Amino acid sequence: MGETNLQIQVLISAEEIATRVGQLGKEISGDYAGDDLVVVGILRGAFVFVSELIRQITIPLEVDFMAVSSYGPSTKTSGVVRLLKDLDTAVEGRNLLIVEDIIDTGLTLSYLQQVLLSRNPASIKTAVLLDKVERRQIDFSPDYIGFTIPDRFVIGYGIDHNQRYRELPYVGVVPE
Ligand code: IMP
Repeated sequence: MGETNLQIQVLISAEEIATRVGQLGKEISGDYAGDDLVVVGILRGAFVFVSELIRQITIPLEVDFMAVSSYGPSTKTSGVVRLLKDLDTAVEGRNLLIVEDIIDTGLTLSYLQQVLLSRNPASIKTAVLLDKVERRQIDFSPDYIGFTIPDRFVIGYGIDHNQRYRELPYVGVVPE
């Protein structure tokens, strides 16, 4: 509504993302060859990454989603994550691949891993498109990482700022 777009700089182009997602898909297909696989996408930020990644995976899989939000105003440091939507799939005895847009402090992924571990899956691994490795507050290393990025606020490719910019085909930063 008359709001002008912020000036956005491309950090990772659509082509670079496509190439890397293709590599990750190939790697994941090899690692899980012959195994059952449930991709657990984390809403909303990861929905674009999930949709492209599964099309680069060449083994049979199922997809389900969870939604989480940080809880309260000081959430970035409180470590409290709220589950907004749970899986519909029973995961006991299955191989789970949690797919997230960004790992920052690591609190969200570590919470999700804990929640899912309590359901006795056969295995849990994690895939992130972006890793802000400098920001980590707890020791957490995703198994598959698209790109390591500096501590900048990013948008696009499913990732929002106040619910906007998810539709951009690239990962961008707003100049400070
Ligand atoms: P963590 O729990 O601190 O690792 O946070 C991960 C979540 O923080 C991501 O799933 C994003 O929703 C959000 N986040 C972290 N950095 C950014 C960013 O640069 N842009 C948009 N969302 C971000």
